[in-house]
Amino acid sequence: MKTYKIAVIPGDGTGPEVVREGIKVLKSAAQAKNFALDLQYYDFGAEHYLKTGETLPDSAIEEFKEMDAIYLGAIGDPRVKPGILEKGILLKLRFSLDLYINLRPVKLYPGVWTPIKDKGAEDIDFVVVRENTESLYVGVGGTFKTGTPDEIALQEMVVTRKGVERCIRYAYEFARKRNRKKKLTLCGKTNVLTHAWGLWERVFHEVGEEYPDIEQDYAHVDATCMWMVKNPEFFDVIVTDNMFGDIITDLGAMIQGGMGIAAGGNLNPEGVSMFEPIGGSAPKYTGKNVINPLAAISAGMMLLEFLGEEEAGKLVENAIMKVIRDHLDSLSAGRMGHSTTEVGDLVSGYVLNPPTD
Ligand code: IPM
Ligand code: MN
Repeated sequence: MKTYKIAVIPGDGTGPEVVREGIKVLKSAAQAKNFALDLQYYDFGAEHYLKTGETLPDSAIEEFKEMDAIYLGAIGDPRVKPGILEKGILLKLRFSLDLYINLRPVKLYPGVWTPIKDKGAEDIDFVVVRENTESLYVGVGGTFKTGTPDEIALQEMVVTRKGVERCIRYAYEFARKRNRKKKLTLCGKTNVLTHAWGLWERVFHEVGEEYPDIEQDYAHVDATCMWMVKNPEFFDVIVTDNMFGDIITDLGAMIQGGMGIAAGGNLNPEGVSMFEPIGGSAPKYTGKNVINPLAAISAGMMLLEFLGEEEAGKLVENAIMKVIRDHLDSLSAGRMGHSTTEVGDLVSGYVLNPPTD
């Protein structure tokens, strides 16, 4: 039997609760499709940091490189100064493992409430390809005369030809494989940030010549936000940099039903990839068993697809859709009406006994 080695990092806040449900569903999918999971748990996060001063050691990165995938819950805790865990764990994972694509589907499932009036599941179904290793996230810059009236802070946007090209190429390939509108929108800011976005725009058209079947489209980031609300059906695949991708995918998460639904994959198509729900650690709800695990379960579904277990992924997606349709009516009010555990059990049940309707 094929066995996949998965590193599991439940992390902080509600991370462990949603990961527990995600793993439940992954195990059911493995059972249904006859493969095995070798799960290695890692306790990195706030608790571990407060106890040991360690965020994520290089030795763990080396271990992750030998895995088939990484499954992460959430990182962030109010007891730790902002930036330490984010940079020390999440960004370290992205940078050290060169997870250069952050793939974030924005898909409204039938029956999920969206704040966009008069738009439904047929209108909201696109994917954001966010560059995940460059731009303002690199940390190049510095401060000078800190705390004085002459204080200076520099935070540089780093853009490389290689980084942009591999991201754009991935996005074209993805649009082709997705085979929907066959349209790729570059989301940038070519009217002001002419150096960085000039490079992006040139590479976008250059690489695009190899993809005559894919329509090239461009929207400034501010206009992208406008269209995502006004006419989300315009989009098929959006490619953008790390910073803009961070911002527009939170907007995306809202129009697809909220942080409890949205998932993403941090991909290194040539190496190991990491999958996570994109909502945070929600400290307020920790341990209450009330948080929606569907985002984590969807991240698990993406993990399966990425491993090549597409049929297992489809089983999970059908189960999610069935649960939303038949059990989570109150999602429309922004609440589940079920506990975290119950939702996991329901999805897991439909993975083992697929719905026929
Ligand atoms: C995300 C998060 C992270 C980011 C933070 C926690 C560093 O907001 O995954 O979108 O900015 O990338
Ligand atoms: Mn974000």
